[in-house]
Amino acid sequence: SSVGIIPTCYDGGQKKSGVDIAPGEMLKAGLATQIEKMGYSVNVLPDEDCESHKPESEISVEGSNVLNLVWTSNVCKAHAARVEEQCRLGNFALSLGGDHSLALGTITGSSRVYGEDLCIIWVDAHTDINTLSTTDSGNLHGCPVSFLLGIETHPELAWMKPIIRKDRFVYIGLRDIEHKERKIVKDNNIKAFTMHHVDKYGIGAVVQMAIDHINPNLDLPIHLSLDVDAMDPSVAPATGTPVRGGLTFRECHYLCEAIAETNCLVAMDLVEVNPLLGDESAFNQTVAVGNSVIRCALGETLL
Ligand code: ARG
Ligand code: MN
Ligand code: MN
Ligand code: MN
Repeated sequence: SSVGIIPTCYDGGQKKSGVDIAPGEMLKAGLATQIEKMGYSVNVLPDEDCESHKPESEISVEGSNVLNLVWTSNVCKAHAARVEEQCRLGNFALSLGGDHSLALGTITGSSRVYGEDLCIIWVDAHTDINTLSTTDSGNLHGCPVSFLLGIETHPELAWMKPIIRKDRFVYIGLRDIEHKERKIVKDNNIKAFTMHHVDKYGIGAVVQMAIDHINPNLDLPIHLSLDVDAMDPSVAPATGTPVRGGLTFRECHYLCEAIAETNCLVAMDLVEVNPLLGDESAFNQTVAVGNSVIRCALGETLL
């Protein structure tokens, strides 16, 4: 089988520069060859030219301090088409970000092919479910889930036509949820496993419960959206919004292995690696762990 690697060096969903060089660094560290050695054929698509998608002027949204709405929309629309193409070809669509606003494109792309069957596992320290009116930061990387689940809309993002079912969406790894986000998660009855649940039940049981919730018969396609900040900062330090108390190295690898074992995984996002945050060893460590969890999700460590 084939893996399409889709790098998109987008950093406009938040304010720290550096997250845009991550795809290049992950590829430089040998990701494509590593995946080839596992027996896949790998097609590395060219990096998206995010600067060319920058509008001449941005729009402002009343009652919101959201930034880069048009730019993010343009980039994600282009990215969605690339993910869709890979999925249509039957390839595993691997998106390398970039900040997590990119998921507006990644999941829209895969859902165009897999429809309402598509299940999402969102692995993150954060819920990323702010709306345009609840976001305090104005950063769109904190908002993609509300758009994907149809909780928020905006004419600028009308191209998304979201069809993701709320009962086929699950979080793992949460530990930094804003007050207003908590209400959105509860009001919409979205299944969420926080770090509290990981501590209480162990990662094995949590992953099992998560998969049972979205895909009990293991007959539906899964899209894994993995924000590196789900991992503890001691494991993945070079990221823009680190939060203590995250998944250990093995917990995150286990999670990816268990998802690989389902044979249902069709697409994955690896986002929020920021090589410019921290020293050289933090950088190398984060790039390496990012590539390592990707290989696990593709089945590397399974017998
Ligand atoms: N909740 C915060 C916000 O809305 C942080 C979001 C962090 N998101 C991320 N993808 N790292 O800005
Ligand atoms: Mn930049
Ligand atoms: Mn996060
Ligand atoms: Mn995130």
